[in-house]
Amino acid sequence: MMSLKNKRVLITGGGQGIGRTIAEAFARSGASLVLSDINRETLERTAQELRDEGHDVTAHVADVTDVEALREMRGSIYRDVGPVDVLVNNAGVVFGGNFLQLPLEQHKLTYDVNITGMTNVTWVFLQDLLERPEARIVNIASASSLVGLPYGTSYCASKWAALGFSESLRLELKEEGHNNIHVTAVCPSYINTGMFNGVEPPRLTRMLEPDQLAEKIVASCLRGDAMLMEPFMVKLTPLLKLLPVGLLDMIGRALGVTTSMRNWQGH
Ligand SMILES: NC(=O)c1ccc[n+]([C@@H]2O[C@H](COP(=O)([O-])OP(=O)(O)OC[C@H]3O[C@@H](n4cnc5c(N)ncnc54)[C@H](O)[C@@H]3O)[C@@H](O)[C@H]2O)c1
Repeated sequence: MMSLKNKRVLITGGGQGIGRTIAEAFARSGASLVLSDINRETLERTAQELRDEGHDVTAHVADVTDVEALREMRGSIYRDVGPVDVLVNNAGVVFGGNFLQLPLEQHKLTYDVNITGMTNVTWVFLQDLLERPEARIVNIASASSLVGLPYGTSYCASKWAALGFSESLRLELKEEGHNNIHVTAVCPSYINTGMFNGVEPPRLTRMLEPDQLAEKIVASCLRGDAMLMEPFMVKLTPLLKLLPVGLLDMIGRALGVTTSMRNWQGH
């Protein structure tokens, strides 16, 4: 089990939502925080509020799709506080709706932020992580990494990619003998952050509360788990996918997975 004493945790998209809640959970466990976000206003407000609570926090505005900005951020983090020990790839966007009615730019932005962004940040910070005595990468994927999500086609595809990215990198690092680093893919269903306002959580699942999930994410990260799937129904999804497609589709409709995104009004 990794200890967070004197460890630095970088969280992308840390200005609000589950990123902020994950930051609070890491800080409570003794880590120093390095928060990053494209949104200066929420980033600076969150960083100040966490400092006011006595936590050690630095904040860096950066767009995860901009590799130059990420390189500069890495340089100033290294100079000011030192190399990071934990990277949480959390920044993400979603645009719900009928595939054809969504502008192509929104589909493309979803891939740019959710998977190209994850690749960029990991590429810029991985060497530093490999040189730490103990290190972790946590990639925030989704329950939709495991099953199709109508009215969220590109979001779902970007999250399948995020899971493939995590699993491949985890195996490659092991293969290369980097036993000091573990990669965790986090696959939660809907979380109460506003990103998915208007959705209907599928039957036998509930809207997850950020605080409880964040504690589980930190625990999984410290143990070096390969995957965290929440709530329980999500853990059954890989098994359900062994069923014939027609039957799986019927179950998806009956549980409300197929229609859960139909009334999405989130941000
Ligand atoms: N909310 C859910 O139901 C849910 C479920 C599963 C997975 N997730 C994933 O969790 C992560 C966080 O989601 P959230 O619910 O907290 O959403 P959120 O919208 O509240 O937070 C996302 C954060 O990412 C930042 N961001 C967006 N684009 C960025 C960019 N280009 N560069 C840097 N930062 C950027 C935003 O400014 C924001 O602070 C996302 O990856 C999301 O896909 C969310």
